[in-house]
Amino acid sequence: MFKNRSYCGELTVQDVDRRVELAGWVESNRNLGGIIFIKMRDVSGTVQVVFDSSLSLDTLKTADQARSEFVVFVGGTVRKRDEKNVNPNQPTGYIEVSAESITILNASQVPPIQIDAKETIGEETRLKYRFLDLRREEMRDAIIKRHQACQIIRNYLNNNRFFEIETPVLNKSTPEGARDFLVPSRISAGEFYALPQSPQLFKQILMIAGFDRYFQIVKCFRDEDLRGDRQPEFTQVDLELSFIDQAAIMAVIEGLLEEVVREVTGREISLPFRRLTYREAMDRYGTDAPDTRFGLEIADCSDIFRNSEFSVFAQALTGGGVVRGFSVNDAGKISRKMLDRFTEEARVFGVKGLPTLKYSNNAAEGGIAKYLGPEEIAELGNRFELSGQGTIIFAADEYHTACAALASTRVRVARELGLVNEDALDFLWITDFPMFEYSEEDGRFYSKHHPFTAPKPEFINALDGLKPEQADSVLAQAYDVVLNGVEIGGGSIRINIPEVQQRIFSLLGISKEEADTKFSFLVDALKYGAPPHGGLALGLDRIMMLLLKKKSIRDVIAFPKTTRGQCLMSNAPSPVSSDQLRELHLKVVDR
Ligand code: AMO
Repeated sequence: MFKNRSYCGELTVQDVDRRVELAGWVESNRNLGGIIFIKMRDVSGTVQVVFDSSLSLDTLKTADQARSEFVVFVGGTVRKRDEKNVNPNQPTGYIEVSAESITILNASQVPPIQIDAKETIGEETRLKYRFLDLRREEMRDAIIKRHQACQIIRNYLNNNRFFEIETPVLNKSTPEGARDFLVPSRISAGEFYALPQSPQLFKQILMIAGFDRYFQIVKCFRDEDLRGDRQPEFTQVDLELSFIDQAAIMAVIEGLLEEVVREVTGREISLPFRRLTYREAMDRYGTDAPDTRFGLEIADCSDIFRNSEFSVFAQALTGGGVVRGFSVNDAGKISRKMLDRFTEEARVFGVKGLPTLKYSNNAAEGGIAKYLGPEEIAELGNRFELSGQGTIIFAADEYHTACAALASTRVRVARELGLVNEDALDFLWITDFPMFEYSEEDGRFYSKHHPFTAPKPEFINALDGLKPEQADSVLAQAYDVVLNGVEIGGGSIRINIPEVQQRIFSLLGISKEEADTKFSFLVDALKYGAPPHGGLALGLDRIMMLLLKKKSIRDVIAFPKTTRGQCLMSNAPSPVSSDQLRELHLKVVDR
C-alpha cells in the first residue's frame, strides 16, 4: 500500500502533474462547503490537499471525517496553486495536491496540544504528551538536526581512523565527581552496578588494548542537581587517542566542530579557536567557562585599595581576599533597582554585597564613591579607562567567591543591556587547569578534572608534599572547550605510568586498597604497556542546544527528564512491587 509513498514536505513545482500517494497526519481540516482543504503532515513537513466538489460523495464524506491528528492515506495529483493562494513562506506553498482518494488509517482523540499552535505550550503538557510535542515542526527539526549532526560526527571520526566501540552500561563507578545511579544485582545479593558517569576507564583500557583511536556517541548518567543545561542522562561524543599530544587532540576536535556547525547551521567558523589559560579566564572573566561575546572584563583593584579607608575593602584585603570589579559604560541605563537585584542574585555565591559606584566623565558619584579618596578614584579611572557615563561593580572577598559573584553578574548585566551578540558562535579553549582543588570542609584534595589526568611534566616533582594552599599551583594537561559561555567539552592527557597514577591516588587520599577495589583493572592494565594517550568528551545535548539557539537541552532531547529527574510521559521513577524488591534483596525504609 505504501510502496510508492511520496513525502508531503518534499513536493515542489517540479512535481506538477505527477500522481502521488501520501501517508501522514491531518494537521488541520477546513470544509468550505463542497471543497475541503486538509493540511497533511509527515516527517518531512506539510502540504495542502484539496478535495474538490467533483469527487464522489463518499470520498468527500471521508475527507470531512478526517479530523486533526487522524492518520490518512491520500492519492492525488500535484498541481500549481492559484496565484492568490500561493504561500511563499511555506516550502510547499506553490503547489497543492488535488486529491482523488482518501483512506482513514486511524482515528485520534482531540489532541491536548495543537500541533501548529503559534502560542507557547506549557512545558509540562509538552513533556506529558511528548509523542504529540515531537510532531511539532520545531521539535521535529531539532531531532532531525541532531540525527544529522550524529551522522557527520560518525563520518568525520571514521575518516580520521577512529573505531566506534561500545562500552558497558552496567558497571563499577568511575569517580567523576557526581553521584552514581545504582542498579541492584539480583544474582549477587547486596551488590550493585553503577551506570557510567562516562566511559572514562574503558576508553583508556581500549587504548591499552591497542585500538588507538576510539569514539562512541554514548549515554552517561549522573545523579546531580539538574538545570537547563544538565540532564541525569545525557549524551557524550566520547573520544580517546593514543600516540598523541594535546595540540593534536585540539585540532581533531576543532575539525569535528567545524563540520558539525556547518551541517547544523550552514555557517563557517574560523579555526583554530582562541585559547585562554584557566588563570587568564578566571582573572578576566571570573569563570573557567567565560562568555566572550562581550567585553566587561574584570580587573583586579586590590593594589588600589591596599590602604583604603573603606572598611569593606580594607577587611577583605587584610583577610587575604581581593577587590575586583568590572566597569560598564551604560550611559546611565543601570538603575539603583537593577543594582539591588544584581546584588541579591550575587549573594548565592557567598558575597555579602556588590559595592558599586557611578561615574560620569571621570567623576565618581553614588554608591561607595563617598568612601573613596581622590587618588583611588583617579587610579580606578586609569585601570578601567573610564569615559562617558557608567557603573563599576565590585566584589571584595576571597578570590574564588569574588570571581563567582562577578562572573554571574557580568553575564546578567550584558543580557539586560543587550550587549550579547546572539548570532556569534564564540568557541574557546581553556587550558592549563590546576590538577587539584582543596576542600577545607573535607580536609582533602579533589581532582579538578578526574584522577586519571596527567600533570604537566614540569610539575611532577611538585606533587611530593603538596600543601593545601598550593593546590592551584600544579597544572594539568587538561583542556575544556567552551561555546558562548557554556562548557561543551572537556578532556586531558592521561597518566600512563603506574607509579604516577599511584602518587596521584595517594595525594587524593585514595588508599591503595581503595584504588584496588575501585579501579584495580585500570591500575593493572597500566602495567602492561600503556601507550601515551589522551582524549576528550563533548556534550552533544549542549552543543545542539547552543547551535539551535534553544534555552534548554530538553528541547534537543527526544525524551528528557524534568529538573526533578522525572519523565512525565512514562512517570519514571516509580515504585516497584514488593516481589521485585525481594528478588533484588532490597527493602525500602522510610526516612
Ligand atoms: P566531563 O565530566 O567534563 O568529562 O563531561 C564532558 C562534557 O559532558 C557534558 N556534560 C553534561 N551534559 C548534560 N548534562 C549533564 N549532566 C552533563 N555533565 C557533563 C558537558 C561536559 O563538558 N570522561 C571525561 C572526559 C574526558 O576526560 O575525556 C568527562 O566525562 O558538555
